[in-house]
Amino acid sequence: MEHVLAACRAAVARPGRVLALTGAGVSAESGIPTFRGKEGYWTIGAREYHPQELATHEAFAAMPWSVWGWYLYRRGVCRRAAPNAAHLALAQLARGLPERFALITQNVDGLHRRAGSPDAQTFAIHGDISLMRCANDCVLDRFPIPEAVPDLARGDEVSAATRALLECPRCGGLARPHVLWFDESYDEPRFHLDTVRRLAGEAALLLVAGTSAQTNLPWQVVTLAGRAGATIVDINVEDNPFGDIAAASGGCVRAPAATVMPTIVEAMLAR
Ligand code: APR
Repeated sequence: MEHVLAACRAAVARPGRVLALTGAGVSAESGIPTFRGKEGYWTIGAREYHPQELATHEAFAAMPWSVWGWYLYRRGVCRRAAPNAAHLALAQLARGLPERFALITQNVDGLHRRAGSPDAQTFAIHGDISLMRCANDCVLDRFPIPEAVPDLARGDEVSAATRALLECPRCGGLARPHVLWFDESYDEPRFHLDTVRRLAGEAALLLVAGTSAQTNLPWQVVTLAGRAGATIVDINVEDNPFGDIAAASGGCVRAPAATVMPTIVEAMLAR
């Protein structure tokens, strides 16, 4: 751990951005299942359905209310959860480095925002489970899912009353969850593609936490930050492909994020 702290201190002392890239592992200690862990959404899901079947535009086009049912169930799980010490530490880092720090998260659970991470420094590259948008893209705007929309239990049907609420406030057509599905592509207006690529190219330090490195844009972020000479640190309870890269850079911490992130942030801000 000491060598990781030393690497973080040295990187913060250099000019350049300080970035964090987070995944589901950061919210695991808040009680939100990860995707590919033993009890992960995709692992458990696999027994009933393949993730490709549900988290896709194709599935939404074919069975919008089954897909909505799934996301309203997950929305409930996220709303019942609370930010943990890792979320709070990263919010503190954002306040401590207002000009330099940016948080790039794959998480749609909103816990970073609820921990106080400023919107201007937070980029949710896979969407946000509390938001919806027009399924026909009449506009690119995101809208909060109405409070009157209930959280559902797993497998519950979406009632007619709820269906009436899940419509685009602009055109009255069907609304869809604001999440990035497996058969969709990153873009700038909805998922900050160009912004996070630019930020990665300006990084002096990249803290990677709680991700299994299975999706595309995070790989671009780690690769571009590496090319920019950034120090890369990986925080995860398990080895993963980003850990291999970090091992040759700032190092790896194999411990729960909520346990170690406060110590790392404190060391960085102490400077
Ligand atoms: N602290 C740190 N890391 C943890 C913890 C913890 N307490 N608990 C689990 N992890 C690690 C696991 O070892 C694993 O490497 O978090 C990672 C979670 O990996 P995934 O479940 O694959 O989640 P993630 O990497 O965020 O998935 C990326 O894939 O399915 C899509 O859109 C979805 O955003 C998601 C993306």
